[in-house]
Amino acid sequence: MYNIAIDGPAGAGKSTIAKIVAKELGYIYVDTGAMYRTMALACYRAGIKSDQKEEVIEKCKSVDVSLGYENGTQKVYLNGEDVSIEIRQEVIGNMTSAIAVYGPVREILVKMQQELAAKNNVVMDGRDIGTAVLPNADLKIYLTASSRTRAERRYKELVEKGQKCNIDDIEKDIIDRDYRDMHREVSPLVQAEDAVLVESSDMTIEQVVEAITKLVK
Ligand code: DC
Repeated sequence: MYNIAIDGPAGAGKSTIAKIVAKELGYIYVDTGAMYRTMALACYRAGIKSDQKEEVIEKCKSVDVSLGYENGTQKVYLNGEDVSIEIRQEVIGNMTSAIAVYGPVREILVKMQQELAAKNNVVMDGRDIGTAVLPNADLKIYLTASSRTRAERRYKELVEKGQKCNIDDIEKDIIDRDYRDMHREVSPLVQAEDAVLVESSDMTIEQVVEAITKLVK
């Protein structure tokens, strides 16, 4: 199987890029952030706070998270219910980063991710794919951009959806989330030694896709 790992901070464009690259190559796209988000949603719905470590772990062990594909689009299910849209809320995104620090939560999802990659050609995006999930991936990309650029991209997305927001608040959330993701004890976000760095602040989506497909070839 051919495995491509794409890691990087929140809002660097990983999912947009990974989706296009997977489509071009005919590979399966695996959005691991969606899996962590689904665990966070399960806790959120149960009224569990992210700092209630034991309750979070127990909840995550008791739920069923699964992936499916409809017309090539990844769907994520919580106990069989399609929660692909619900997990995108900002409140869930912030909670996800806080529950993703717990080792037992990561173990459950890493196992699922490794099984998927063993059976399929995948483009998998996340924070620890090149370092922990698929240390032997055929190609590793570390995709990043400045926090301001990432905040601007997120701001545009939200405004297009008709949501009111403040760009400085978004940038602050991004910086906080980066800090948590990079400084946690278990599988922090770091560039793998053998990953190719792509700094996309001044690149278009097309340019990033082209750079990655060139590396695959
Ligand atoms: O990529 P995303 O924004 O959907 O990810 C949400 C959070 O999930 C992110 O802040 C950190 C966590 N995450 C992780 O710890 N490991 C992964 N492989 C993917 C996401």
